[in-house]
Amino acid sequence: MKGLILCGGRGTRLRPFTYAGAKHFLPVANKPVVYYIIEALKRAGIEDIYVVVGEREKEFRLKLGDGDKWCVSIEYIRQHSPLGLAHAVMSAEGRLRGETFVTVLGDNLIMHSIRDLVEHHIATGAQSTILLSPVEDPRRFGMATLKGRRITGLVEKPERPAGNNAIVGMYVLSSIIFDAIKKIKPSARGELELTDAIMEMIREGYLVGYKVTGEWWSDVGRPEDLLAANQRILKGIKGITEGSIISNSIVGEKVMVEKGALVKNSVIEDFVVIGEKAVVKGAHIGPYTSIGDGSSVTDTNIKNSIIMKNCVLEGMHRGLDMSIIGEGSIITESMGKETTSMWIGRDSIIKGQ
Ligand code: DAU
Repeated sequence: MKGLILCGGRGTRLRPFTYAGAKHFLPVANKPVVYYIIEALKRAGIEDIYVVVGEREKEFRLKLGDGDKWCVSIEYIRQHSPLGLAHAVMSAEGRLRGETFVTVLGDNLIMHSIRDLVEHHIATGAQSTILLSPVEDPRRFGMATLKGRRITGLVEKPERPAGNNAIVGMYVLSSIIFDAIKKIKPSARGELELTDAIMEMIREGYLVGYKVTGEWWSDVGRPEDLLAANQRILKGIKGITEGSIISNSIVGEKVMVEKGALVKNSVIEDFVVIGEKAVVKGAHIGPYTSIGDGSSVTDTNIKNSIIMKNCVLEGMHRGLDMSIIGEGSIITESMGKETTSMWIGRDSIIKGQ
């Protein structure tokens, strides 16, 4: 079976972080979101992967290459305009016609095993199978109504939701989907919706099955989702020390100190990752914080935050909480006593007294 990852779209809800790059490379526990998806496909034995890309095509080619890093083959398909998920799938018709394939939304972190979904799909003999999950805010998602082992209805972001089974961004699709997409019209938001195309299959009498996952998943479409995902992934990390910990530092058991990193005179609580060649001095790093490769954190308190690569943070005694600091940013300030939360984009500079 082949894999299709949808990474077109504009990522406007993640600005300012997406001005300088695709949202799919934003780090969760120091690893880009799309890497988790490639690893999950590989774990399921899927090694032929197509990535649908938009205007950030160059960035994808540069960062993912031909997939060698994961021992898979990656090919790129250009979607010339982000006209919807069904449009993105349609752009892969030339490569995937005649195949059954796993489609994953490139901004979804999904713990459910792809292999399990594929096995379920094969066992039920369905023409398509969708992963579902109960949610508290159905208006944000595509929603499914069910009868027995079938999906009977699908609505994208309903005003008045019936039930709470949301579509998680993982689908097993047969080639019939391409014919269904050709029959649908753009939705009220102007997109060709994958939910409408799958609904078309249901209308034509095809069996569209589902699996309800009990595992954690998240659509990292907004900054607060990125912080929540960072927290969730860091909760599961194992303690590994590949860097140096010196001068009376106190480091929790569930902390990753990566190669070439230095921790000096600092307190690092559990559920923290300190990236390669990062330097942490005189700092207190609280739980659920990731410090990106090459960053330097001095005399600063941080918790629940994402510090991306090559940042410099100095003298922030008052503390950062629930913050996202874009790659290459510099913050040197010591004003005030209150803890602060900030979301700042790449290469920003904040200088205080
Ligand atoms: O997160 C789960 C939800 O994802 C599902 O419940 C919905 O049914 C599904 O439509 C989708 O909704 P979103 O509004 O969150 O989709 P979004 O526009 O964020 O796009 C998801 C991924 O697909 C993202 O990686 C960008 C990519 N994409 C999006 C569009 C609109 C494309 O590749 N091409 C596109 O034209």
